[in-house]
Amino acid sequence: MKAIVVTDRAAGTAGMKLVERPEPQGLGDLTGANYGDVVVQVYASGFTGDELSWPSTWVDRLGRDRTPTIPGHEVAGVVTALSYGTTGLSVGQRVFGLTDWTRDGTLAEYVAVEARNLAPLPGDVDFTVGAALVMPGLTAWQGLFEHGRLRAGQTVLVHGAAGVVGSMATQLAREAGAYVIGTGRASSRQTALDFGAQEFVDLENDALEDIGGVDLVFDVLGGDIVTRSAAVIRPGGTLVTIAGPTEARPVNGHTVDFVVVPDRAQLIALVQRVREGQLRTNIGTIDTLDDAVAAFNPAKRANGKTIIRVRP
Ligand SMILES: NC(=O)c1ccc[n+]([C@@H]2O[C@H](COP(=O)([O-])OP(=O)(O)OC[C@H]3O[C@@H](n4cnc5c(N)ncnc54)[C@H](OP(=O)(O)O)[C@@H]3O)[C@@H](O)[C@H]2O)c1
Repeated sequence: MKAIVVTDRAAGTAGMKLVERPEPQGLGDLTGANYGDVVVQVYASGFTGDELSWPSTWVDRLGRDRTPTIPGHEVAGVVTALSYGTTGLSVGQRVFGLTDWTRDGTLAEYVAVEARNLAPLPGDVDFTVGAALVMPGLTAWQGLFEHGRLRAGQTVLVHGAAGVVGSMATQLAREAGAYVIGTGRASSRQTALDFGAQEFVDLENDALEDIGGVDLVFDVLGGDIVTRSAAVIRPGGTLVTIAGPTEARPVNGHTVDFVVVPDRAQLIALVQRVREGQLRTNIGTIDTLDDAVAAFNPAKRANGKTIIRVRP
């Protein structure tokens, strides 16, 4: 099969290339190897721009070198094989989901994935939309509702509200009955409002400190912004960040930094909202696998999620 691989950690994205790789078998045997895997023929794939800096890109769960590595961990496609122990899916079924960080990923024609990481993708949802929903959808959902415990009537400050994750968080928070204040650069104001933010703070020109108290901050930026954000949280409120550990703490409240995890039930809830027109993905560019190396190294910063359409 065709796949994008990286082999040299020092070379970074310059070492990415399109090559032929063996198709994953993913089929379990009685020893339990690959127990619970399915093989998915990839139709659409998503990746995170900085994943070559993640340790899990280079080693397996036991810390052993696993190069050549196939990056990309978001997938939408069709199940082509089931191993022993898989439940809830069948061959020929459309699926989407998040693949294991420590295994070969989705910038390839096939990927082996644990079945529990996947959810059915309804026939009326395009594969590109399914792939674009996975990471930002799960991240926003988990940040707002699991870690942030957001409730109707609360106020949430969503940083980077026009971005890939922030635009999901904005939409989901609005739908949940929260009052949403989005942030970003001045040029992102209209996009953030279109995704449902009721107010917008231009982080380059407005004073974050002027917004008054919020119950929850959903941070995607880290650094100085997350530190200053703690001060606008009402006593007892929550700061959730996906930008890595931070010392920032709201008064009498708590801070959570987390990494998104696969969740079938949440994917089902997210895609249902897409079908009902309550949620839309923030896709910027759709490229082919032949163009995926260039897409991973864009000449200029891309707005919105880049999706690789592996199969037409
Ligand atoms: N922990 C997790 O599980 C997890 C999951 C998913 C993503 N992430 C991480 O979360 C981060 C955000 O991901 P994303 O895909 O949502 O990125 P994105 O689409 O680039 O969104 C970030 C948004 O914030 C804006 N922004 C960035 N720096 C800013 C600044 N200094 N002032 C004002 N606005 C600023 C960007 O505007 P411009 O486009 O104009 O710069 C963009 O609109 C990434 O670092 C990603 O790796 C973590």
